[in-house]
Amino acid sequence: MRVAVIGAGVIGLSTAFCIHDRYHSTVQPLEIEVYADKFTPYTTSDGAAGLWQPYLYDNGNTQETLWNRETFDYLLQHISSSEAENMGLFLLSGYNLFKRPVPDPSWKDIVLGFRKLSPRELELFPGYSYGWFNTALMLEGKSYLPWLTNRLKLRGVKFFQRKIQSFQELLAEGVDVIVNCTGVRAGELQPDPALRPGRGQIIKVEAPWVKHFVITHGDEHGVYKTPYIIPGSNAVTLGGVFQVGNWSEKNSPLDHQHIWESCCSLMPALKKAKILYEWSGLRPVRPEFRLEREAVPHGKQWSEVIHNYGHGGFGLTIHWGCAMEAARLFGEILEGRKLGKVPSSNL
Ligand SMILES: Cc1cc2nc3c(=O)[nH]c(=O)nc-3n(C[C@H](O)[C@H](O)[C@H](O)COP(=O)(O)OP(=O)(O)OC[C@H]3O[C@@H](n4cnc5c(N)ncnc54)[C@H](O)[C@@H]3O)c2cc1C
Ligand SMILES: *[C@@H]1O[C@H](CO)[C@@H](O)[C@H](O)[C@H]1NC(C)=O
Ligand SMILES: *[C@@H]1O[C@H](CO)[C@@H](O)[C@H](O)[C@H]1NC(C)=O
Repeated sequence: MRVAVIGAGVIGLSTAFCIHDRYHSTVQPLEIEVYADKFTPYTTSDGAAGLWQPYLYDNGNTQETLWNRETFDYLLQHISSSEAENMGLFLLSGYNLFKRPVPDPSWKDIVLGFRKLSPRELELFPGYSYGWFNTALMLEGKSYLPWLTNRLKLRGVKFFQRKIQSFQELLAEGVDVIVNCTGVRAGELQPDPALRPGRGQIIKVEAPWVKHFVITHGDEHGVYKTPYIIPGSNAVTLGGVFQVGNWSEKNSPLDHQHIWESCCSLMPALKKAKILYEWSGLRPVRPEFRLEREAVPHGKQWSEVIHNYGHGGFGLTIHWGCAMEAARLFGEILEGRKLGKVPSSNL
């Protein structure tokens, strides 16, 4: 069984890991190959702050909430392990702030110690009249991606730096199953009008005294368009840009000014922080992300593609639940093949 995973962001690497983990002892040989034109530290997953926090409401998509929960629980199990530092994993507490009362988020029972803010806490944030406090997790792509890559290499997974133009190209080379984890550029391989870029820009600053995340919400603006401050292991991420439809990965001076001024007004002590660097990336935005099997014609045969892309602004938050689901779909394909044709004897 030869499996090609396209994409080496958090989704591709974790899916490769999950498939290998679950099937390497029963499917032999199981050859897994990862193809990508960009590897760590150059993927979107590397640039993300890495906070575990989904969008506020799942709008009835309870499956998504379940995958978020599976990811949180999986990471929480590793929090006290000696691997946590190498994974880029640690606990982080902080605030979500609003200008009016809002319903509790879909993830309030997933994070630790979710509660509403007291009047004294709200006094810390002038202009905001409502909010929550909770403990969540950080999973920093710049550590987690190399960690996953090393573990995959130890397991014999092979890596190829190459841009894939079409899945036919891989099928022609003898690949049995393709797993499509191409993030925002998935549409280049097969048009997908529902998939759009959600451009983000962030400023990384040195402010080691920031110990809590602060995320603001304005209902008139939409998600991540208002200032947020997320401390990481080496730097603090300042953001607040989410431009749907904008394919530019260039930093914009206008966005810089907007982020800087709004974050400094939220936390005036930041004015003295040293700016380390700036980064722009594209969130793979889709009304719902795509996680499903598809049969694609290849000559006279049909081959299988598992799609796993479109995780918007919460790819690290949901990755493990999705990787396990993709592995389950892979298991279905194995079952189907066993039923479909009697394997020839190896004797
Ligand atoms: C500013 C910003 C902040 C964010 N903060 C957070 C956060 O705090 N928490 C959170 O959970 N999420 C956050 N996100 C979202 C998160 O970054 C994404 O959801 C996640 O990185 C998507 O992962 P991915 O593996 O699908 O895509 P990517 O990381 O973009 O990886 C895609 C991979 O596919 C490869 N590829 C694509 N097309 C081809 C092709 N044709 N041939 C070969 N290879 C190909 C690329 O080279 C790359 O390896 C943030 C995003 C941005 C932009
Ligand atoms: C990955 O999915 C995208 C979106 O459907 C599609 O454009 C692309 O063809 C797929 N790529 C492969 C190799 O299956
Ligand atoms: C898209 O991003 C670029 C910066 O790279 C910026 O100059 C431009 O104004 C943005 N366009 C929109 C519509 O937001």
